[in-house]
Amino acid sequence: MDVKIKNLSLTYGDFTAVKNLSLEIDNGESLVLLGKSGCGKTSTMRCVAGLEDPSGGSITIGDTAVVDADRSVNLSPNKRNVGLVFQSYAVWPHMTVLENVSFPLRMKKAPKSQIRAKALETLELVGLAHVAHKGASMLSGGQMQRVALARSLAMEPAVMLLDEPLSNLDARLREDLRVELRRLQVELGLTSIYVTHDQGEALALADRIAIMQDGRISQLATPEETYRRPASASIAEFLGVSNIFKVQPASPLDMRVRLAEHDLEVALDTADAMLTGDDSICIRPEHVRVASGPAPAGPNTWNGTVLVSVFQGAYARCTVQVDNGPAIDVHADVRDLAEFHQGDRVHVRLDPHHVRLLPQHAPVHDETVPVPVPQGV
Ligand SMILES: Nc1ncnc2c1ncn2[C@@H]1O[C@H](COP(=O)(O)OP(=O)(O)OP(=O)(O)O)[C@@H](O)[C@H]1O
Ligand SMILES: [Mg+2]
Repeated sequence: MDVKIKNLSLTYGDFTAVKNLSLEIDNGESLVLLGKSGCGKTSTMRCVAGLEDPSGGSITIGDTAVVDADRSVNLSPNKRNVGLVFQSYAVWPHMTVLENVSFPLRMKKAPKSQIRAKALETLELVGLAHVAHKGASMLSGGQMQRVALARSLAMEPAVMLLDEPLSNLDARLREDLRVELRRLQVELGLTSIYVTHDQGEALALADRIAIMQDGRISQLATPEETYRRPASASIAEFLGVSNIFKVQPASPLDMRVRLAEHDLEVALDTADAMLTGDDSICIRPEHVRVASGPAPAGPNTWNGTVLVSVFQGAYARCTVQVDNGPAIDVHADVRDLAEFHQGDRVHVRLDPHHVRLLPQHAPVHDETVPVPVPQGV
């Protein structure tokens, strides 16, 4: 079922954790809330789950208004048909795996004959049918999290709410379960809201990613768009773009900007970016090329010296100190970088097409604010 969150606000005492947040999740869509610790992801999720008392706004799930602060409507969690999976393994240790998954169905007074069949079917789905009769406390962390998932799935909730469900697991298991979760989402057509501060997880699991900063959504886009076009320098930084350089406030009409802290001009390939006075250029390390010898003529070709070159397995990472410029991170094919060592004179090249000019902060994303229609066009 679809979920519509409109102008949601949540305060804890005099602190506002969620600020006038609006967001729509389509039926069958996987939406990931991604943001730094403390930005309000869990708070937003808890409002959808019915675990908080929002100070403003409304939430509808399908046709049901579950929250309407103006009319003092706030349905309890068990009336919302939502499934919850949290970071901690919320399994009942004194029950078997099968009993864990059956328990909520029993509480819901489902017919006895159906309970067992449904629980077993769901355990099959998450790959745990073979441990159905084991005590839940004997499972590994990854298995316990699958039990928690199966317990929610068995209820066939209208919306699944998952809050960092993989963050207690080791790296390898996280990646395996991530893929498995994505398979389940697609196979079952689940509508889900998934909270994480891990961008890899977000990219893998989302149909759309909502980047959250300071209680608000600052970018809402597909994983590819989020990765390729972060809406601000602060989002790019959060997403791990290492080459972010402040530029001088100036008009980019000639498609060049000057770095604020270095005597260096950088060519862009569009003049459409509006400078706000506090802007940066962002360059992904994989878009920079490095080669030995002096720089050939052309835009964004600079001489420099290798500061460090590190083998990282799938790629090599090299930092080049550009003459009179910044140190630039480069990711490149291992074979290309094998020949570079600290102190080598090299040049770097950067296609203007790959330089993103971004404001420090994105304008607040708010689906309820209508986009102004240009006048006289
Ligand atoms: N019960 C509470 N009382 C007071 N402040 C709270 C409460 N719960 C959360 N906060 C504050 O609200 C803000 C948002 O918290 P929230 O738990 O939503 O963050 P988060 O994005 O989920 O972070 P994390 O990634 O660390 O889980 C934080 O500054 C937090 O300190
Ligand atoms: Mg949280």
